[in-house]
Amino acid sequence: MSTKPRILGSEPVRFELARRRFLEQASLFAGGLGLAGLTTHAHGQSCSNPVVPGDCAPPASSTPAQRWVPDPAAPLRTRRNAARLSAAESDRLKAAYKAMRDLSTSNPQDPRGWAQQGNVHCWYCGGGSNGQQGEEIHSSWLFFPWHRCYLFFHERILGKLVGDPTLALAYWNWGNVANRRLPAPFVTPNDPSNPLFDARRGAAPTQSVPSAYVGATALRRALAPNDWRRFLGTPDGPTSAGGSVENGPHGAVHIWVGDASMQCANIDMGVLATAARDPLFFSHHGNIDRLWDVWLDASSTHQNPTSTDWLQHRFTFYDENATLVSISVADVLDHERSLRYVYDDGAGRRASGGTRLALAEPAPEPVRLSAQPLARSVAVPAELGGRITGARAAVVPPPARRYLLHIDGIQVPSHKQAVVRVFANRPGAGPATAVDSANYLGFFAIVAKSAQPGGHAHGKQNVVLDVTDTLPEAQRGKTKLEVTLVPVAGDRAAPREVDLTFEALYLTEE
Ligand code: C2O
Repeated sequence: MSTKPRILGSEPVRFELARRRFLEQASLFAGGLGLAGLTTHAHGQSCSNPVVPGDCAPPASSTPAQRWVPDPAAPLRTRRNAARLSAAESDRLKAAYKAMRDLSTSNPQDPRGWAQQGNVHCWYCGGGSNGQQGEEIHSSWLFFPWHRCYLFFHERILGKLVGDPTLALAYWNWGNVANRRLPAPFVTPNDPSNPLFDARRGAAPTQSVPSAYVGATALRRALAPNDWRRFLGTPDGPTSAGGSVENGPHGAVHIWVGDASMQCANIDMGVLATAARDPLFFSHHGNIDRLWDVWLDASSTHQNPTSTDWLQHRFTFYDENATLVSISVADVLDHERSLRYVYDDGAGRRASGGTRLALAEPAPEPVRLSAQPLARSVAVPAELGGRITGARAAVVPPPARRYLLHIDGIQVPSHKQAVVRVFANRPGAGPATAVDSANYLGFFAIVAKSAQPGGHAHGKQNVVLDVTDTLPEAQRGKTKLEVTLVPVAGDRAAPREVDLTFEALYLTEE
């Protein structure tokens, strides 16, 4: 089996998975497709960013990090849909960001100031000029808890700066068809007099995130995994894979805000190192954090990991008093009780319901998930490997086995991005091919890490698409599975350039 990376240009690439190898966990490149070296710059225009300051090292702390302790008596904060804030709520949020921006000017070294707050994310996505950087908090099971902590301290600082302990972030609910535009408070007025404005947004207030990335189908697929490995991401380390939300709608929305045509990895939001220099970052991630609740609430089979490696993993942040604190994953799982915030739609009520706090104690073994009913119509793969019947019924037990399409060892230069749609048995699929067909297996979006070439490289990334619900139909009557990877920009366009390599594409059953 070949381990030589293949380069995916902006043309669709087709792979045929021979039936014999259908379920083998093996590279599918034995045939040699002759694609290496294909980097495309098709239409002459290139993407480039202005040089942005690169040193994101946190200010030094005079004390070692203290253990963060929850305050169960703190007032509850309610995070509301950003598109539905009252004028008073919107003004309150703007006043808090104004205070944070002012602090940044009056005392640039205060870790609670706006530039320092943006640097927190940058530190983990590129680091300091001294060559150091934070641990990798993307593309693994650290993604959800780290960002939850980040938003929590950011929110507490905002509240402290305006003397309002009930101040809450607002979430951008792009999954709702009525909320696909940049939320009103962030663009009203759409100029620097608005503390929620950012001059480096490519998306205009009149534009909407394409439904291919955040519509009902995309969202259903992002929330479909039963196994936390597919939803949250796999354990951190060199072979980790990001989860269905991170590699899906999360990445696509970042890219879209930076450049609505999705051709370029544009600062701020379209590049991880600069993304948190846009206040919209915290609203986008409010929604990501809320989706974690939505997933947990959707089924009793949706459970967080119980591994102590995860629960006891610690992160450090400056808190609202500018004190360096250390907080663990276990500390933040019950956000209503420990962090004292909730979402206005009730997401997370079940998640907050008691038992989860017990996870702070190490549990012996991960909960092994078995097939559990979900009240929706799904296709059952009676037998894969060419004998799929694809029988559908109104209500059927979900399949006991999951089928996962892996794309391993993906590498994209640190200043570039990629959005790739994946089709099964759809010869000729291209960027304009409908994504509402049974042959569409999903997409993944990789956000650029740095604004300039030569920044800290993306590590290799692995992507896993759970195709259990889609593949059986696409595979009906077929003896081979043909996978087509289609790079795309915006809704239906071909990207001007793509520079992505990966090492293996294969299907597994588990
Ligand atoms: Cu840390 Cu949306 O990225």
